[in-house]
Amino acid sequence: MTIPSTELTVPNHIGIIMDGNGRWAKKKGLPRSIGHTYGAKTFKTMTRYISRRGVKYLTLYAFSTENWKRPLEEVNALMKIFRQYLVDSLTNFREDDIKVVFIGDRSAFPQDIIDLINETEAVAKDRQGMQLNIAMNYGGRAEIVQAVRRLCQEVQDGRLTPEALTETTVSEYLYTAGIPDPDLIIRTGGEHRLSNFMLYQAAYAEFYSTDTLWPDFGEADLEEAIRVFNRRSRRFGGV
Ligand code: IPE
Ligand code: IPE
Ligand code: MG
Repeated sequence: MTIPSTELTVPNHIGIIMDGNGRWAKKKGLPRSIGHTYGAKTFKTMTRYISRRGVKYLTLYAFSTENWKRPLEEVNALMKIFRQYLVDSLTNFREDDIKVVFIGDRSAFPQDIIDLINETEAVAKDRQGMQLNIAMNYGGRAEIVQAVRRLCQEVQDGRLTPEALTETTVSEYLYTAGIPDPDLIIRTGGEHRLSNFMLYQAAYAEFYSTDTLWPDFGEADLEEAIRVFNRRSRRFGGV
């Protein structure tokens, strides 16, 4: 029997690996960049829907540390889309209650994008609604490396002893400090891998993969992912 969506437990933190924009465009005989443009539309509509659905934290994987390997033309098209999204969210979405935070190494982006990122975060910082973490130039390994570097410095400066280091301490040095671990990670586009997404935080996340390509992902697909999540038995190593 299908559980009605009103009776489902909504995950506290959902992460989404938004994959399949390029293939979506290719199927339609369009350039990959058009797939990213449509992917950005889904980004906006799904963010609002997931917020209305009562999710407290949403982390969207927008650009990985490995995505710089793509042809310059595609990287430039993506930068143009990020810029447009940021300008839009600063002008049209000022009334939104969503708290936007960026995770990843923003220093690699062009200066105008860094400024827009900082401004977007500043405008949203006191909002009480869902927290939207946008992972840009994010890589789970890079995140762990920057944490280890800072922790080594703490030890060197005498503020921390190696014995005092715990799993919680490490969490506090990740980009996601203060954010609870994801409960559900959704990957669109059919692959079954994390591609460097939230490696430390995903330890006990439920993984859900769908063949739906990101530009086609909609409310019904999200509801199906939540429904499957509700059927999972999370044991966290216990019985
Ligand atoms: C995901 O879609 C978006 C980014 C990685 C920026 P892809 O561009 O990876 O689409 P596919 O996987 O090639 O179809
Ligand atoms: C993961 O997708 C990164 C994002 C969705 C931002 P990729 O398309 O880069 O991953 P791979 O190359 O298929 O592993
Ligand atoms: Mg891909």
